[in-house]
Amino acid sequence: MKAKLILNKDFPVSEIDNRIYGSFIEHLGRAVYHGIYEPTHPTADDMGFRKDVLEMVKQLNVPIVRYPGGNFVSGYNWEDGTGPKEKRPRRTELAWHVIETNEVGIDEFQEWAKRANTEVMQAVNLGTRGSDEARNLLEYCNFPKGTYYSDMRRANGFEEPFDIKVWCLGNEMDGPWQIGAKTAEEYGRIACETAKVMKELDPSIELVACGSSNLFMPTFGKWEATVLEHTYDYVDYISLHNYYGNRDNDTKTYLGCSLDMDEFIKSVVAICDYVKAIKKSDKTINLSFDEWNVWFHSNEADKKLERWQIAPHQLEDIYNFEDALVVGCLLITLLKNSDRVKMACLAQLVNVIAPIMTENGGSAWAQTIFYPYLHASNFGRGVALAPVVKCDTYSTEKKKDIPYVETIGIMNEEKKELTVFAVNRSLEEGIDLEIDLRDFANAKLIEHIVLEHDDMKAVNSAENPNNVVPHNNGVTKISGNAAVATLNKHSWNVIRFQI
Ligand code: AHR
Repeated sequence: MKAKLILNKDFPVSEIDNRIYGSFIEHLGRAVYHGIYEPTHPTADDMGFRKDVLEMVKQLNVPIVRYPGGNFVSGYNWEDGTGPKEKRPRRTELAWHVIETNEVGIDEFQEWAKRANTEVMQAVNLGTRGSDEARNLLEYCNFPKGTYYSDMRRANGFEEPFDIKVWCLGNEMDGPWQIGAKTAEEYGRIACETAKVMKELDPSIELVACGSSNLFMPTFGKWEATVLEHTYDYVDYISLHNYYGNRDNDTKTYLGCSLDMDEFIKSVVAICDYVKAIKKSDKTINLSFDEWNVWFHSNEADKKLERWQIAPHQLEDIYNFEDALVVGCLLITLLKNSDRVKMACLAQLVNVIAPIMTENGGSAWAQTIFYPYLHASNFGRGVALAPVVKCDTYSTEKKKDIPYVETIGIMNEEKKELTVFAVNRSLEEGIDLEIDLRDFANAKLIEHIVLEHDDMKAVNSAENPNNVVPHNNGVTKISGNAAVATLNKHSWNVIRFQI
């Protein structure tokens, strides 16, 4: 099969906001305890953070990490996680039915973030609490000194403000499962009033209002419009969340799920712009897709979990090779929409539906999905070029017109590099992708990285961490103004050119 990609440097989608490669750590399962934090681990640093995990997070080059939830945040008292550890309360945690020891809180997490070369995206509790706790937490984190909460931070040993720039106004507040769930009117009002006091206190921050919990919520669309009608002047982003899965073991349809993500994004953009129009505003609301990933493998095991454990094995999806291809397609979709998707968080980062897994007291290893995320985050910075793609499509019973190739090119003028990400969705055939380089005379191939495996269900594990790993023996030939990249059947490809 043949396909063609035309790249024109004068037709950008957008300069990519690096925060599109964000991730997420929730107090859930073993994300924090035995994930990023394990004081008894042989690699633990002076604060109890696992250095093996820190190294892998740094490899991923994660620009921002959402914290501390997720559903967890809607019942959380942030004060519990500050001050001397021996005085911190143990609590029943009602979102995930576990015991929270509070050994880690914002004091520790912001320090972990520094050590991981990342920033914190902090969520506030608008479930059981409201604007008062949100402004107190903001004062604790960002106010220099001389007030109750800033001096509390200093007394806890943190002289310098944490200077957290991005704040989420609650989490999935439309979800019936959410502690303190709200109607769109109720949430719109509380989010507006919370945003107002937070921006009074620190006008330099950016705020994210909650969109629908996913595309299939019955109130999707109306929720976004109502929430934005209340909050438009005070917030900067609206959130999107969605998880994907191959529940019916229908791989051909599953590989096309990024088309749903694309439609979801475009619908939310339309709603943002509808509210902009009725408000006659010159401000544009952008999108924070702050929870996205594959999530379904662990659902059955989680139903059987005993309650009130500390850091149980929860939401521990073991990802296979086809999941990695889906994550690649989802990353390309985010990039194709990078004119409006300015932030996104792969949910989550360690152990909980995550690219990085750990053994308690043992090794840390990379799941299959680690690799497309690694490549996109490291090579996908710069300007996303509008992809003009010619390729065949296929249809399944559930989905029509799925292109065989999902692809985009990223131009990095500073590094003088052009990178093409491409997934071949065909389960049967290789595809010759002609890349039109007429705008990039004298482009030279740096490398063609490929993630491929004969078995779509192949996984990595602590015992066999290198079962699904990329190689850079991909075949791309340049001749004249074009390159032809061989996209092997069902493969993720990263084709890097010097320009
Ligand atoms: O990421 C896991 C959970 O998924 C989060 O806590 C919640 O926000 C979403 O439903």
